[in-house]
Amino acid sequence: MEKRSKVMLPTLFEKMQQRVPITMVTCYDYPMGYLVEQAGVDIVLVGDSLGMTVLGYESTLPVTMEDMIRHAQAVRRGTPNAFLVGDMPYMSYQVCVEDAVRNAGRFMAEAACDGVKLEGGAEMADRVHAIARAGIPVMGHLGLTPQSSSALGGFKVQGKDAARARRIVDDARLLERTGAFSILLEMVPDRVAGLITGRAGVPIIGLGSGPQAHGQLLIFHDMFGLYPRFKPKMAKVFGNAGEVILNGLKAYVTEVQSREFPSAENWFGMKDDQYEELVRGLE
Ligand code: KIV
Repeated sequence: MEKRSKVMLPTLFEKMQQRVPITMVTCYDYPMGYLVEQAGVDIVLVGDSLGMTVLGYESTLPVTMEDMIRHAQAVRRGTPNAFLVGDMPYMSYQVCVEDAVRNAGRFMAEAACDGVKLEGGAEMADRVHAIARAGIPVMGHLGLTPQSSSALGGFKVQGKDAARARRIVDDARLLERTGAFSILLEMVPDRVAGLITGRAGVPIIGLGSGPQAHGQLLIFHDMFGLYPRFKPKMAKVFGNAGEVILNGLKAYVTEVQSREFPSAENWFGMKDDQYEELVRGLE
């Protein structure tokens, strides 16, 4: 495999300017990091969705900074060249600007991330500004923001009426002005995403927000049939790894039970003289 060069901010801006779509996926551990590196994905998000996809919680809210740092470190070991974004978990930035900067810094110092992401618009502009001023690339996240799903009335499309769409358009402009290097739009109507993208000076990444954004994000577990609870409409299954693994596990159970596994190629032997000496010693 040809070694690729490190994806950095100028790489992403060049792609945006040249209208080359930017690819982004979530990732939570070393083997997944290794695979996304081989596939040449541009941006890898260690999402707090790990709470649901990997840790089995009902929401992302219980995820801690310690969880995020541990998983981001593992992903970084698998993908040295993707632009790695650490997702700031619930209550790691909402309380005050100082927390936001300190926790963003932890992703950079402890997990060698290239940037961080946080959810929210105007109400988070001071956090975005302070993190950017600390020299940390920060991605905004608008539309459906899962950490506020209770206030938003569930996991629903956001900005379907003109007034709410206007708020998202204004928030996107504000986040860009306050220093966000990129903005993720989750579950925003395609034409609203198109308007925002058309006016943006930073890469706009869409998740369930249509084809007009500068790039696309998907959740790894949705792409490969690895999340058993549901498959969101915005996800496309690119391969059913869940089915492959399940079939493999069923075959394993069958082979162990029928004594077909293990066979000689799967175990380690011992020289006869050594074995006989061992047995003699036991007599
Ligand atoms: O945690 C995550 O994976 C995310 C995406 C849903 C955008 O924030």
